[in-house]
Amino acid sequence: MTPFLPHTLLALTAVLSLSIAALVPVPPSLDPFYNPPAGFEAEEPGTILRNRTVDPALFGLLPNGAEGYQLLYRTSAIDGSAIADVTTVFVPLIGAMTDRFVAFQNPYDSSATICNPSYTYQLGSVQTDLITTIIALAMQLFIGRGAPDIVGVGYSGGSIATGWAAQLQPTYAPELSIKGWSSGGTPANITGVSVFVDNTAVSGFLPAALNGLSRNSSYGATLKPLIDSIITPYGQAYLDFANVNCGPADILAFTGQSIFETHFQTKGRDLLYDPAFQYVLADCLMGQRKNETPTAPVFMFHANNDEIIPYENATTLYNEWCDFGADVQFTTYGSGGHLTTEVVSLLAQLEFTASAFAGTVPGGCSMKTSLNNTLNPLDFALDLEPIVVNLLTVLLNLGEQDANLLENIAGLHNTSGVQS
Ligand SMILES: *[C@@H]1O[C@H](CO)[C@@H](O)[C@H](O)[C@H]1NC(C)=O
Ligand SMILES: *[C@@H]1O[C@H](CO)[C@@H](O)[C@H](O)[C@H]1NC(C)=O
Ligand SMILES: *[C@@H]1O[C@H](CO)[C@@H](O)[C@H](O)[C@H]1NC(C)=O
Ligand SMILES: *[C@@H]1O[C@H](CO)[C@@H](O)[C@H](O)[C@H]1NC(C)=O
Ligand SMILES: *[C@@H]1O[C@H](CO)[C@@H](O)[C@H](O)[C@H]1NC(C)=O
Ligand SMILES: *[C@@H]1O[C@H](CO)[C@@H](O)[C@H](O)[C@H]1NC(C)=O
Repeated sequence: MTPFLPHTLLALTAVLSLSIAALVPVPPSLDPFYNPPAGFEAEEPGTILRNRTVDPALFGLLPNGAEGYQLLYRTSAIDGSAIADVTTVFVPLIGAMTDRFVAFQNPYDSSATICNPSYTYQLGSVQTDLITTIIALAMQLFIGRGAPDIVGVGYSGGSIATGWAAQLQPTYAPELSIKGWSSGGTPANITGVSVFVDNTAVSGFLPAALNGLSRNSSYGATLKPLIDSIITPYGQAYLDFANVNCGPADILAFTGQSIFETHFQTKGRDLLYDPAFQYVLADCLMGQRKNETPTAPVFMFHANNDEIIPYENATTLYNEWCDFGADVQFTTYGSGGHLTTEVVSLLAQLEFTASAFAGTVPGGCSMKTSLNNTLNPLDFALDLEPIVVNLLTVLLNLGEQDANLLENIAGLHNTSGVQS
């Protein structure tokens, strides 16, 4: 199948970037900054290997009022091997507080390096991934709100990173002063997610997820031989596509399709019962081990009509973390779907972040429901209002219930053109 729509999108974003072509940053695959220096494996996890300043921008176009720094640092992969990763640090130009740090996990839902947030955050970058672009607006609300105390924030794909960081920090990085975790639309159970989104408008997340899980540094040793032995040429074409395209393009290309059918891989539905596949998905399940329980307070929130990440899998995680002694406040959003909830919950996320820094989050576990599906820009500080208005404009185009995500995401490409 020829995924012509993503090309339209790429053309659109390319045109937008043309006027500032001189400033266009090099894509990650061609950017030597991302390649760690020889011998980096011997450094301690967390060691900064390279640093540079960047010009941060919203939509790749609008300077975001912060200085940007990027750090290439040594870390440990799922398989225990040493890898290097890039993070972007934003320091507000005005009123920076030096005692706090918000770790914002951006859900970039992709196995292609061109979608790296460290690239798309930069002035002049091609906005290949509209999801990352919108999330950068939400992130903007946290810049300036936050050895400094740390609160970790994420939603959806960003909550894979947030949930796992929350679980692993007590043993992996106990020296950090973590004050809280805000985790929304949490993909606690990726088996649940895969059966939930397969054959839907958003099945396109799955080929990218298979790519990610098959990387050497994650579960490649277990999963790659299996996938290689069963993938059809048809399936391989989608894996290849996902390795060079971002989430929205992947979604459009693979809408309504299934990775559990024999024209994608020869095992069909039986793949779910393959021991190697089960091992990998089971290992990715959050909340299984008492020594992997967050020790800082957690704010979980989730739409009960979430059409992408199953709600019950998140409440299951809530129960498990609470049984293991974690402090978790869980808010169920009763109106709106996955994307609406991300935006409508922003005030609650900011409030939690502020209480976490202040150390005033109540202990224990509690659940509540919010039926509120409105976000009032006036509830935010004056300087944040334009950002909230931008977010709401995007949201209006998404429709209140996110019912038809595919069309909505397609429409979004047009919207961003207008806004830029
Ligand atoms: C940043 O890189 C420069 C060299 O390019 C080095 O002198 C400096 O120590 C680095 N800073 C950090 C925090 O690693
Ligand atoms: C994870 O999802 C799978 C598939 O839906 C389900 O069978 C399993 O019970 C779930 N496990 C947990 C702990 O949520
Ligand atoms: C991944 O591992 C395989 C088997 O060890 C090796 O042949 C391949 O070169 C590795 N790929 C990368 C990108 O390191
Ligand atoms: C996880 O979500 C899947 C998909 O909706 C569902 O089938 C399964 O029952 C859920 N399991 C648990 C334990 O939450
Ligand atoms: C819903 O949230 C909005 C914006 O935060 C607020 O102005 C309004 O009072 C809330 N409505 C209810 C019923 O809580
Ligand atoms: C973008 O807008 C144009 C004009 O309104 C419309 O014809 C086109 O289908 C839209 N494209 C997408 C991807 O929604």
